[in-house]
Amino acid sequence: MNKNNFKIKLSFVKGLNKIVVKEVKEKTSYKILEQGVDFVYLNFDKNFGKLFVLKSIGSVSIVLNDLLYNPAYLSKHKSILKEVIDEIINKKIDKFSTFKVSCAGLDSPEVKSISKYIGDEFKLKENVEADLKINIAKVNDLWEVSVQATRRPLSFRSYKIVNMSGAMDPTIAYALNEYCNVKKKKTYLNAFSGSATLLIEAGLSSQDLETLVGFDNDKSHLTLAYQNIKQAGLIRRIKLLEHDIYEQPKIGKFDVIVADLPFGMVISKNEDLEKMYTAFVNFAENSLEEKGVLGVYTNEYRLFKEVLDLSKWKIIEEVDLKLPTNVNSYLYPKIFVCKKI
Ligand SMILES: C[S@@+](CC[C@H](N)C(=O)[O-])C[C@H]1O[C@@H](n2cnc3c(N)ncnc32)[C@H](O)[C@@H]1O
Repeated sequence: MNKNNFKIKLSFVKGLNKIVVKEVKEKTSYKILEQGVDFVYLNFDKNFGKLFVLKSIGSVSIVLNDLLYNPAYLSKHKSILKEVIDEIINKKIDKFSTFKVSCAGLDSPEVKSISKYIGDEFKLKENVEADLKINIAKVNDLWEVSVQATRRPLSFRSYKIVNMSGAMDPTIAYALNEYCNVKKKKTYLNAFSGSATLLIEAGLSSQDLETLVGFDNDKSHLTLAYQNIKQAGLIRRIKLLEHDIYEQPKIGKFDVIVADLPFGMVISKNEDLEKMYTAFVNFAENSLEEKGVLGVYTNEYRLFKEVLDLSKWKIIEEVDLKLPTNVNSYLYPKIFVCKKI
């Protein structure tokens, strides 16, 4: 088989395509062959490890697409699978000891023979929580064999020494900051800062941000945030404060204000969200520079739009996202980017 048939697939949260394409163009010399709302295909090149710097993607995989590559065909032509898996294992970027094949008909003799072959050939144990993830699926009209290049998703960040329940996906945090154009700004405030995902992603993406401030009303969340910030090496650049949004804290004026708004699933279960969002919008009106930008991530987007006084604010971006929760269902949050009129 010819390696010219290989492609690289970047997968990401559905809706982040614009940011992913921008990041690929800015940080790499890969050619974008095709793009969808939750994936892009790039030309293959053996130095695909360079793509691991991308902050907006969930994973990098090596893929082959062909009309023929259904499980029955692959079970008779196992060298096809070997070539793709070799490409990743021989790189030695990660150490793989377990594997999982995801595919329709897992109990069929064909898929069982594929799994047995991979286990024997690569000395890997089959496991649900696997290091090496192999996926065989029909994508549009073609069959696709894809193998994820890293054990952990790239959305996993090493600065997260504590994972707060209700914390934001770091790839979405990166995207929200990009929509607010943080690389061109000097002062940045994160209300409802939680475990500091937005602050850390902003600090890591832009060395030019001179002021990074976050506040939260929960001491335990501030403690978690402090630990993550320390791990990210940003302790000198990020300041955390304990404030309640209802106090309308006076912290100064900022070029960017961002918030991942609390919404009843894990955080603020019994709160009056309308009152809270109104307090936040009032706070932003007073604390944002005249030409500043407000970036919001929320699941309660109807409520947020209701409380946003459209005589004072204009929405310049509204981005629909779709992401899986832990319980086999989906969330449909939105990103809003707003400016004062
Ligand atoms: C959705 S979480 C933010 C998660 C954060 N983006 C992260 O990645 O960790 C919302 C945060 O708002 C805080 N919060 C809730 N009510 C608040 C209030 N009245 N004033 C200030 N912060 C509040 C919670 O403590 C929580 O940390």
